[in-house]
Amino acid sequence: MVISSVEEISFDLHSLAPLPRPQRVLMTTPDYFAVEYVINPHMKGNIGTVDQPAAFDQWDRLADAYRTLGLEVHTIRGAEGLLDMVFCANQTLPFITPDLSRRGVVLSRMHAPQRMDEVTWYEQFFSSIGYDAVSLPEAIDDFEGMGDAIWHPGRYMLWGGHGFRTEPSAYQFISEVLDVPVVLLSLDDPEFYHLDTCLCVLNESDAMIYPGAFSSSGRRLLNHFFDRLIEVPEAEARNLFAANAHCPDGKHVIIQKGCSNAIEALRAFDYVPVEVETSEYLKSGGSVYCMKQMFW
Ligand code: ARG
Repeated sequence: MVISSVEEISFDLHSLAPLPRPQRVLMTTPDYFAVEYVINPHMKGNIGTVDQPAAFDQWDRLADAYRTLGLEVHTIRGAEGLLDMVFCANQTLPFITPDLSRRGVVLSRMHAPQRMDEVTWYEQFFSSIGYDAVSLPEAIDDFEGMGDAIWHPGRYMLWGGHGFRTEPSAYQFISEVLDVPVVLLSLDDPEFYHLDTCLCVLNESDAMIYPGAFSSSGRRLLNHFFDRLIEVPEAEARNLFAANAHCPDGKHVIIQKGCSNAIEALRAFDYVPVEVETSEYLKSGGSVYCMKQMFW
């Protein structure tokens, strides 16, 4: 079942199977991270400007932030020539079936030719830990994993962004093979090219969004499924990727430093913001959420 407007909803979120929170984090070392091509507007003007030692330092601190929260951090070494491989949310969509009997990943089909070869490294990693790998049908050209496909916390339901990096037909396939309802959200502002740039899910009833990235029908869907929505101001969303924060445990929210409005709003909702610096990655159009992949 793929839904693109509130009129099509025929179920209650709370009646869907529970989805456990993933406890393991995957991160990819930034050995070859650089900005040398432009595949999203944030990269413009940043060619050749990545400070490698600073990028390593920021990456280390992010990994430490996860360890401090008690999560197990697994790493893949970044491969030569794959400059964006560090953004490990994009190459797969990890899943677990509601009866917990099967774990796997849907393999992405990267939109940009520069990123296509990243996927096989992730396929290898997930196979090595016993995950099934599900390939999309040949006819589907674009699907960028958890950049666009985001599990609703606590419930077996998927949010599916599309417009730039993922085509809606990918969700038709995923909905059928995983037997999961998918709620589509269309994106049309190129600076918010992935769903994870404008939707940060917090727990079953809360999310933080940049509302300007969604259509009115998308905003209605978000309002329908979440009881409380924190809205982040445009400048923090566009320039500091406030909505690319990540809440791994329903309490702490790892977020780019300086998102003062978002941080204040999170505190008012009883979340504990954990500020990190991701300025080197912002040059490439990514921040916290893009730099990790959660799996079970
Ligand atoms: N330079 C990368 C790209 O444009 C950044 C990816 C960021 N990842 C994300 N999940 N938003 O593909």
